[in-house]
Amino acid sequence: MAKPKTVYFCQNCGAQHPKWQGQCNSCKEWNTLVEEVISKSQDKTWEASGTSSQNTKQPKAFKLSEISFETEDRIITKDDELNRVLGGGIVKGSLILLGGEPGIGKSTLLLQLCLHLSIKSLYVSGEESSKQIKMRADRIQKTNDNCFILADTSTQRIFNQIKKIEPELVIIDSIQTLHTEMIESSPGSISQIRACTAELIKYAKETNTPVLLIGHINKEGHLAGLKILEHMVDTVLQFEGDQNFIYRIIRVQKNRFGATHELGIYEMQSGGLKQILNPSKILISNQEHDLSGTSVVATLEGMRPLMVEIQALVSSAVYGTPQRSSTGYNAKRLNMILAVLEKRAGFKLGAKDVFLNITGGINIDDPAIDLAVVVAILSSSHDIVLNHRFCFAREIGLAGEVRPVPRLEQRIAEADKLGFEKIFISNSTKVSNKNYQLEIVKLKSVVDVVEYLF
Ligand code: TYD
Ligand code: MG
Repeated sequence: MAKPKTVYFCQNCGAQHPKWQGQCNSCKEWNTLVEEVISKSQDKTWEASGTSSQNTKQPKAFKLSEISFETEDRIITKDDELNRVLGGGIVKGSLILLGGEPGIGKSTLLLQLCLHLSIKSLYVSGEESSKQIKMRADRIQKTNDNCFILADTSTQRIFNQIKKIEPELVIIDSIQTLHTEMIESSPGSISQIRACTAELIKYAKETNTPVLLIGHINKEGHLAGLKILEHMVDTVLQFEGDQNFIYRIIRVQKNRFGATHELGIYEMQSGGLKQILNPSKILISNQEHDLSGTSVVATLEGMRPLMVEIQALVSSAVYGTPQRSSTGYNAKRLNMILAVLEKRAGFKLGAKDVFLNITGGINIDDPAIDLAVVVAILSSSHDIVLNHRFCFAREIGLAGEVRPVPRLEQRIAEADKLGFEKIFISNSTKVSNKNYQLEIVKLKSVVDVVEYLF
C-alpha cells in the first residue's frame, strides 16, 4: 500500500511545509508544525460531494460598469447591535467568523439570531445534540418554524440537508468540529478547518447565502489555529467579556463590508442575551457612598463614546516586591504611568502595591484612559474622594505631558449628555465650549492636574 501523503502545517499561521522543521518559514514561530495526512482530492469543494449538475459554465470577466450591485443586499436582523457591528446587517453571500472563549455565549447569540429571523435559517451544531439546542431555545423562550436545527459534523451530509431545506442563512457551530470526507486528517486540524471553510465559502458565494462560523479561541486570545481563516472569511467578529460578569462585547476585527472598531454590548440574562442601548449608564456605578480610588474615563469604543469607571487600589506592599496588577488595562502601560508619576510628579509609589480594575470586565486600549488611571491611583493612594461628576480623556506621555486624543467632541458630548460637570482634556486641543453644559478643563501636565484636584 502506498504511503499516505503527509505534509506539515503550522498551527499558528497555517503555512504548509513539505517536511518537519523547528521553525515555521512563514510566521517564524517555533515548534508549531504538525504532521497531517492529506489526500489528493483536497481541492474538491462543495458540489463535488452532492448532486449538483450544471456547474461547467466558465466564469466571465465583466467591465466594472456592467456589474450591477444592489447595495450589497443585506439581511437586516432583529439584533441592532449585530447589525451595526456588521455595518448594517449581514451581507448576503458573505462568510462571517465569530470567535470567542468557551462559555462566553457564542451559541446563544447565534441561536437567538436565527430564532428572531423571519427568513429560513439552518443552525448546524457539531457540539450539541438537537435536544440540547431545543433546551437552549426554551431558555431564550422563543420558537420559530423557520429555524432548522441540524446536529452533524460532516460537510457532505450538511450540504445534502442544505439542498433540501434551502436556508437563507447558515450557522456553523463550530468550525473546529466540522470535517470533510475529502481530507483524511482529524476534525479541528488546520487542513480540515481550511478545507471545510473553502467548501463553505464556495457554497456561500455560489448561492449568495451568508454563513456564520463559530470559532473557539485559545487562552492567548487567538482563534485556535485559525490565523489562516481570518484571511479567508469576509468578516471576523470577536465576542468577549469576563465570564464572571454579565456584560458581553462584540468587536469587529476585520470587515470587508463595513468599518472595523465597531462595538456591540450585550447583557447575559437568564433568557439569553439582551442588547444594551445605553452602555455608559451601566459601566459607571452609581456612587451614593463616595469612595476614593475611582475615576471615569470618556473613552471611545469604535465610533461609540463610552463612559467607563476605573478603580484603583494602592496599599503598602506587604511582601518584598510590590505587586502591580491590572484588569482590562495594559499592565506595561500601568508600569509606565507609575514611572511617570514617580519621576515627573514626585509620587513615591515604588513601595506600594497597585491594583487597577476596569469595571464591567471590559478591556480598553484607548490611550485616553491614561489620565483617568493616574487620577484613580492618586485618589486611592491619598485617600481623597474625587467628585464623581468629573471625567477624563487624555493620553499621558513619558515627559508627563498630557496629549490630545482623537474625536474629543464626541467624548465631550457623551459626558455632557450623561450629566458630568467637568471633563479634563489636553490644553492643546481646540473645542468650543458653547454647546455644552459641562465645563471643559484644559491643563498642560500631570502636575497641573494633580494640583487642580488634590
Ligand atoms: P454558550 O452560548 O453555550 O457559550 P459558547 O457557545 O460561547 O460556549 O453560553 C454559555 C453560557 O451562557 C452558560 O454559562 C449559560 C449562559 N446562559 C445564560 O446565562 N442565559 C441563557 O439564556 C443562556 C441560553 C445561556
Ligand atoms: Mg457553544
